[in-house]
Amino acid sequence: MRAFLLATAAAIGLAGCTTVPAPAASVPPAQTAPMSDEDARIADLVTRMSLERKVAQLIQPQIGSFTADDMRRYRFGSYLNGGNRGPYGDEFAPASQWLRHADEMYLASVEPLAGGEPVIPTMWGTDAVHGHTNVVRATIFPHNIGLGAARDPDLVRRIGEATAVEIEVTGIDWNFSPTVAVARDDRWGRTYESYSEDPAIVAPLGAALVEGLQGRKGEADRLGAGHVIATAKHFFGDGGTDQGVDQGEVTGDIEALKAIHAAPYPATIDAGVEAIMASFNSINGVKMHGNKMLLTDVLRGELGFDGLVVGDWNGHGQVAGCTNTDCPQSLLAGLDIYMVPDDWKGLYETLIAQVRDGTIPVPVLDEAVSRILRVKLRAGLLDEFVQPSARPNAGEYQLLGSPEHRAIAREAVAKSQVLLKNDGVLPLAEGADILVAGSAADSIAQAAGGWTLTWQGGLELANAEHFPGATSIWQGLKDAAEARGGSATLSVDGTYSAKPDAAIVVFGEEPYAEFAGDRKHLGFSDEEGLGLLRKFAAEGVPTVAVFLSGRPMWMNRELNLADAFVASWLPGSEGAGVADVLTGAVPATGKLGFSWHERCD
Ligand code: BGC
Ligand code: BGC
Repeated sequence: MRAFLLATAAAIGLAGCTTVPAPAASVPPAQTAPMSDEDARIADLVTRMSLERKVAQLIQPQIGSFTADDMRRYRFGSYLNGGNRGPYGDEFAPASQWLRHADEMYLASVEPLAGGEPVIPTMWGTDAVHGHTNVVRATIFPHNIGLGAARDPDLVRRIGEATAVEIEVTGIDWNFSPTVAVARDDRWGRTYESYSEDPAIVAPLGAALVEGLQGRKGEADRLGAGHVIATAKHFFGDGGTDQGVDQGEVTGDIEALKAIHAAPYPATIDAGVEAIMASFNSINGVKMHGNKMLLTDVLRGELGFDGLVVGDWNGHGQVAGCTNTDCPQSLLAGLDIYMVPDDWKGLYETLIAQVRDGTIPVPVLDEAVSRILRVKLRAGLLDEFVQPSARPNAGEYQLLGSPEHRAIAREAVAKSQVLLKNDGVLPLAEGADILVAGSAADSIAQAAGGWTLTWQGGLELANAEHFPGATSIWQGLKDAAEARGGSATLSVDGTYSAKPDAAIVVFGEEPYAEFAGDRKHLGFSDEEGLGLLRKFAAEGVPTVAVFLSGRPMWMNRELNLADAFVASWLPGSEGAGVADVLTGAVPATGKLGFSWHERCD
């Protein structure tokens, strides 16, 4: 493959914007190993693409920073929506607008080009990291930390399948998930995106999500109907930064670091993951976005990855000597796609100039383009040009948050609850009258955490308006209590007129994402829950603490005061799964995927 690309690159020279005459058919040169049909087809396309169109494959802007006319003119290989953007400037746009936007950009990307230059459809990437949660009404699955506690690869596979279908409803091709970080310092704000501190737990779950999203290797529908492209991220060391600082430094013996932080990648590669995202962090002083030894020698050489490497949000701009608009180092190190949300034009122009002046050898560009086209070919994007709204599941809005998908999420919630303490108050007695306290009890936003409708998530997201069809923890408890012949009362501040049989106190961390969640220490200091537990203890009301958090924390005061304590993590939209465990309808089988803290530093 490499030899052929070198040959074709030399033959076409640097063609400027002129289109290279299309050979009637590709005629691979004689070589020892015969070229696969896939490789021959890609080589043929690359040979016929202009320099400008090739560079455009490497450019990934975010929606809102370019128009359909820009797409028509530049032909970006892909684009993303990011955590804080929805189509047409509306973060909460209905699913139909997402699909309309997908069509608009796709159709602009496939308009015929002059001179018979091959048309390469664009693709849209999104962060459906716990369900397709940028979109209102989507099923919100527990964040990975909860799935690590559930330890059930089959469940994670089914979550991947459901997520892929919901993504397809909106016409999107590509998911930036699973995160297979092995978080080793829970002060890191992304700990909840990690399944576990143990790579042996992370690896099979990451692989299962890949299989669910993309379909299994060898199966006819892989990357077809019901499936999207997956991304294992962030390669590598994202969970191993010093003091848990996001985008920070990872230091240590490289083999020892690989044994922990690169360990999940072989499993996801075996599962066929088509994309891997480079990490923001540096390893022993070298930023991953410019780390040839790791991005090329290890990832492609040692681990045999043959898909595409996508950068993270301006991650290339953090490489020594680079800016957001000038970074040949990343491509030379092995990056294929630059995630360049806003500064795409400057980067595009610089890359073209750098190929022209020889800073970037044409074969390096061609290899990157080939890898991107290979993924598109496998995803069926190059076979027939079908606009997003005409694809399977597109526009089937009833599939967003469908009862079947919500049932999988509810199962996941129940399986992810970890019962840290139970002095006998659980399961709640049949017919019990319960009081549900704490401002988090009826907040779906708090139960969902970051990466929910907005990048950071947030308590301003309201149940009825933003989470139609979802069930809060309070609602789940109420339904369960009533179904069992008892009653439930919501009392945020814990006051009551008739003494309840038990009080459920729901409290925890407020939503955050990425570096906004970095902490200096892990002491849980908010005292709302503590105050409620104290009050109920003084009044002789048995208590169940339900703690919502993106990580284990030091909270011995609450643990000691509560009669039962449940680590609930960030369960998402199906609060009934919490009630399933508290009532004993589902046994509490969740196990910690992270060590719980005895100390707060
Ligand atoms: C995050 C990635 C994410 C990307 C696109 C970055 O800030 O680190 O995980 O895929 O943004 O939203
Ligand atoms: C974007 C996220 C991204 C973050 C990086 C936000 O504005 O929406 O997707 O991860 O910036 O800083």
